Amino acid sequence: MKNITSEQLRNLYIEFFKSKGHKQIPSASVIPENDPTVLFTTAGMHPLVPYLLGEKHPQGKRLTDYQKCIRTGDIDEVGDSSHCTFFEMLGNWSLGDYFKKEMIPWSYEFLTSDKFLGIDKDKIAVSVFCGDETAPRDEESAKLWQDCGIDKSDIYFLPKEHNWWGPAGTTGPCGPDTEMFIKVKEKCCENCSPACDCGAFLEIWNDVFMAYNKLSDGSFADLKQKNVDTGMGLERTLCVLNGKKSVFDTDLFEEALNKLEELTQKKYEENQSVTKAFRVILDHIRTAVFMIGDDRGIVPSNVDQGYILRRILRRAIRFSRQVGLKEQGIVDIANVFIDKYKNVYPELNANRDKIQNEIIKEYQKFAKTLEAGLKEFEKTVKKLNGNVIDGITAFHLFDTFGFPLEITKELAKENNLIVDEEGYKKAFNEHQEKSRAGSEQKFACGLADHQEATTNLHTATHLLHAALKQVISKDINQKGSNITAERLRFDFNLDRPCTKEDLEKVENLVNEKIKANIPVVMEEMTVEEAKRQNFIGLFENKYKDKVKTYRIGDFSKEICGGPHAKNTGELGKFQIIKEQSCSAGVRRIKAILTK
Ligand code: ALA
Repeated sequence: MKNITSEQLRNLYIEFFKSKGHKQIPSASVIPENDPTVLFTTAGMHPLVPYLLGEKHPQGKRLTDYQKCIRTGDIDEVGDSSHCTFFEMLGNWSLGDYFKKEMIPWSYEFLTSDKFLGIDKDKIAVSVFCGDETAPRDEESAKLWQDCGIDKSDIYFLPKEHNWWGPAGTTGPCGPDTEMFIKVKEKCCENCSPACDCGAFLEIWNDVFMAYNKLSDGSFADLKQKNVDTGMGLERTLCVLNGKKSVFDTDLFEEALNKLEELTQKKYEENQSVTKAFRVILDHIRTAVFMIGDDRGIVPSNVDQGYILRRILRRAIRFSRQVGLKEQGIVDIANVFIDKYKNVYPELNANRDKIQNEIIKEYQKFAKTLEAGLKEFEKTVKKLNGNVIDGITAFHLFDTFGFPLEITKELAKENNLIVDEEGYKKAFNEHQEKSRAGSEQKFACGLADHQEATTNLHTATHLLHAALKQVISKDINQKGSNITAERLRFDFNLDRPCTKEDLEKVENLVNEKIKANIPVVMEEMTVEEAKRQNFIGLFENKYKDKVKTYRIGDFSKEICGGPHAKNTGELGKFQIIKEQSCSAGVRRIKAILTK
């Protein structure tokens, strides 16, 4: 086996597959486009799904690349020697072109040839699919491996849970695979195989023979074409080839690790808790850099990808405290990663300021409540009868102190306690219900949290609604609303696009009302009274007796669950960033508030 660097491994892979007639394509964004089933790109094949399903790819039928991937399902495990939330996948694809009899010999050649990885063939083991009701036993792949020179005793037939890959989301292309392992130590027993978790076999590559499409009812249909999809994890392969103990010992982390030692004056291997904290910080900051620095980059929030980023950053911040790493230190580590990767992923350098700013903002936001939250946690532990932290307490830690559930879980574990996760989810959902009380779903305002940003945007939504009525037509009504920490989205009835003048007038009117510092007044009243006073909203039986109303001077009067800013003066500057069609007769406006 050769000692090679990450750069050499990427280049060797691409060079090999170019020599086999492949075109190199660039890494796609880590945020998938038009795929509501997953939040992040989880494998190299992910951006290629339409082509695996039969669309024509502009670069042809043979493609190769290295792809940025994010998998956060195992975030709690990060800190051990192998789990990473970000990784790169080297891959090559046949879009209805070659299949097993080309791919298996190529895999063998790349792994064993001295010009490429130069691995001794006796160090290699492979697994193939043992067959079931969906697809037959893969004797063909086993024979191809044997023809290459892999001994029969190193070929393992395994079931679907081990030798079937995909789909990347809940539906889509998938198929049986053959996986390649390096035998790193003696088998633990007679029955030991790559399915065993004793660590004797380390997987480095996976060739998927994609011939099926998993449908939403769980059944499998034949794909229009037979594809090959392969994936080699860069970090893992580097680690194995170079005989390193963990992925954190590869060159990908070297400079960041040195910086971390320098900044904290601690040694990575000083003791187990420092090792774990270093690994969490390195992994999570690297992932945050790739999330924020992506072309379709995201920022911390309380929903979707933004929420995952927030969890990752907050977990990194918590572990940073343990080793004495401060705000600037975290930014320094982020910069080391940007420098390490900037030649391969230039978008990181282009977004350097944004990466730094978002990290600082999140650090400061979390730092405000972290100390108090940790104290509250200690108080909780002292008061506890038994060893379970109930869901309401865990939710309180999230709601008031910004502790994502896994931080509470982790603190609990350190204190030999457990968290009632079901109870937490219940409390979370009930809380969501409360903010919607008295309002129909489409008037639910879509509030994901009660923090300042979303609350202000919510009040801006009411101003926007009133402004649209005044400027364009009194018949305009809300058709939907959704608010994230970054923007509001408001849908309303109108059978033509808004003109530029309309939008300017609306924007100016909202900003005028913000400047006027108008108090936002909440009052509970009966449905009848609300009607009499011309509040807008849904007047249905479910409003029972009393409803909450919000009034902004004489300008805006709505029935609404809240919450809202106390005064329009708190909102900042209102800006419409997009106006578009939403569905027939419905327009959509996206707007933001800036300082
Ligand atoms: N798509 C396959 C994997 O991720 C190659 O393992």
